[in-house]
Amino acid sequence: MHEKLVEVEHLKQYFPAGGFGKNRRYIKAVDDVSFYIHKGETLGLVGESGCGKTTTGRSLLRLYEPTAGKITYDGKVIFQKEEGGARIAESMTPYRKKMHIVFQDPYASLDPRMTVGDIVGEPIDIHNLAKDKKERYDRIIELLRQVGLNSEHANRYPHEFSGGQRQRVGIARALAVSPEFIVCDEPVSALDVSIQAQVINMFEDLQQKLGLTYLFIAHDLSVVKHISNRIGVMYLGNMVELADSFELTAHCMHPYTQSLISAIPIADPKVARSSKRIVLEGDVPSPLNPPSGCRFRTRCPYADEQCACERPAWKEVKAGHYAACHHLDKCN
Ligand SMILES: Nc1ncnc2c1ncn2[C@@H]1O[C@H](COP(=O)(O)OP(=O)(O)O)[C@@H](O)[C@H]1O
Ligand SMILES: [Mg+2]
Repeated sequence: MHEKLVEVEHLKQYFPAGGFGKNRRYIKAVDDVSFYIHKGETLGLVGESGCGKTTTGRSLLRLYEPTAGKITYDGKVIFQKEEGGARIAESMTPYRKKMHIVFQDPYASLDPRMTVGDIVGEPIDIHNLAKDKKERYDRIIELLRQVGLNSEHANRYPHEFSGGQRQRVGIARALAVSPEFIVCDEPVSALDVSIQAQVINMFEDLQQKLGLTYLFIAHDLSVVKHISNRIGVMYLGNMVELADSFELTAHCMHPYTQSLISAIPIADPKVARSSKRIVLEGDVPSPLNPPSGCRFRTRCPYADEQCACERPAWKEVKAGHYAACHHLDKCN
């Protein structure tokens, strides 16, 4: 039995969006999402832009204060709150070293006025991880080497690097505190396709070497397919399906997952011609005013009355394969 490192239960993150009193409005960016991540595994998280992936990652690290939900890390409840109820929250100080994040845009997340050495060294200083200058310097160089850079890079500034190298700096910075768990928030989305694979391979190598656990976010299923042990699919603030990567791509149950899978280009023209592409109509509705019942129903080819009235329950349909849909039978 695998041990769970991170567990998120009924996580909600609502952002205030104006109005007063009864008329107060909220963007329901994440609305009742539950999942867990085993020690040493990679859980991929996919879904269209704006569906709440970043918010999920940041809320579970408590970079945002969740509206409600329960977060357990390594067997310890670090946050628990019912909506409008009392709150239990552990101090995050010891967890800031264990849980880290790599951001999507390495250009925006690295201070342009700091050298790469100081960027990587900053967390070492904040957490007092080096006893003197020499130890600090050695650690910085070791970290740069781990991500495929070298000592010469330490004195340069972010703008002197390519996108792929900048993302390597961002990863070295995250590794500086020797974390156990990293939220990788679209770490390759801003990179050229030709270097995406290199950076993904590096994430895999580092995971093996350092025993890391990842929540790996991407808007593109083809990016997370290879690196993830299991994949969760989000739509408009909800998790709609979650399963082992192979199981999810071979036997998906949710119509939204089906549309994502059919959008992955197929290299073989014969297979490509015979496979049906499912193109969803319309845009993702606003999380300010999401559809009643199932949030996907306004774009779902199988939607009926029940979908408009009842929110489908999140349930384990097969061992380890979770989904929320009233018409799971139609997709298989
Ligand atoms: N700090 C914030 N304040 C208000 N709204 C936010 C904030 N962050 C995200 N949102 C909104 O929450 C929704 C989910 O955003 P996000 O988690 O960034 O999605 P994703 O990472 O999947 O693209 C979007 O509608 C976005 O506009
Ligand atoms: Mg995002």
